[in-house]
Amino acid sequence: MIQGQELAISTSSLTKQFGSQKAVSGISLSVPRGSVFGFLGPNGSGKTTTIRMLLGLADASEGEIELLGHPIPKQLEQALPKIGALVEGPAFYPYMSGRNNLIRIDSADRFSEAKTRKQRVDAALERVGLSNASKKKVHAYSLGMKQRLGLANALLKPREILILDEPTNGLDPQGTREVRNLIRSLAAEGITIFVSSHLLSEIEQLCSHLAVMTAGKIVAQGNIQELRNESQTRLVLKSDRIDELVDVLKGQGLSKISLKSDHVVVPVPTEFDVATLNQLLVKKKFMISEIRLEQPSLEEYFVNLTGEGFEVVR
Ligand SMILES: Nc1ncnc2c1ncn2[C@@H]1O[C@H](COP(=O)(O)OP(=O)(O)O)[C@@H](O)[C@H]1O
Ligand SMILES: [Mg+2]
Repeated sequence: MIQGQELAISTSSLTKQFGSQKAVSGISLSVPRGSVFGFLGPNGSGKTTTIRMLLGLADASEGEIELLGHPIPKQLEQALPKIGALVEGPAFYPYMSGRNNLIRIDSADRFSEAKTRKQRVDAALERVGLSNASKKKVHAYSLGMKQRLGLANALLKPREILILDEPTNGLDPQGTREVRNLIRSLAAEGITIFVSSHLLSEIEQLCSHLAVMTAGKIVAQGNIQELRNESQTRLVLKSDRIDELVDVLKGQGLSKISLKSDHVVVPVPTEFDVATLNQLLVKKKFMISEIRLEQPSLEEYFVNLTGEGFEVVR
């Protein structure tokens, strides 16, 4: 296992077996401190099961976990106070105000200090932008507000890691934006955020790092920018006289040219000099209506990797 203080979460060969099915199969996660780490995978790929093991809510069948250097479940009690989690929608009483719900939950926590309770509850409500709505009954909250209340609950104490299982699931676009913005501002404070989602677009917008799960296994992991750079750059060219254009490109040493109805796409080195090619084509009197470099989307990259798609909402 990768040891050390630079990792907020690490697992090695983590496995969860349900009967004969391996819901999680030998995964090794390395979540750097301070990262916003996306845990991406289609429904049923093992995200929630993994998160439940991280939090000591389920036993691992095999493998090891460390949270902030604490082996889990052995040192769960030392680790948990530093970790806020939003796994299942927490049970709020609908006819109690948001504020009173948090006070009730905090009172039930034997590790919580009663003296600072009200102050901590108000600070958490402030942080998620619910101060003005804190006296409203929860049944009058929008879904986005309920989810933010869930996050406030996770933030009742100072946290080093937040573990969020599909925090925008079921939210409307407005609620989704609210929760995303909140995650961004928490990340800006330096809290490590581990967030699962089945939506690539969500992870791309929020995260610095990710791991991609398919059928209980990690198929890609790392810094998103670095993963993006691993995919091949291509040149897109729209012009008249496409057939002649292809000959010119071949003359420039380019190959694997794919011909579309009114444009061509061709893989090129990352540092490809578009301006010089453009100059050459203009000299040869081509009517160029479009010339640009394109990086394949992460989605294409992962589809190539896993042979399946992700639900994408843009
Ligand atoms: N308590 C359980 N008993 C049996 N099978 C389970 C249990 N929890 C999850 N599974 C199975 O494990 C797989 C992964 O589920 P889950 O971790 O919930 O995936 P995700 O969160 O990525 O949608 C699924 O096939 C699911 O049916
Ligand atoms: Mg899940």
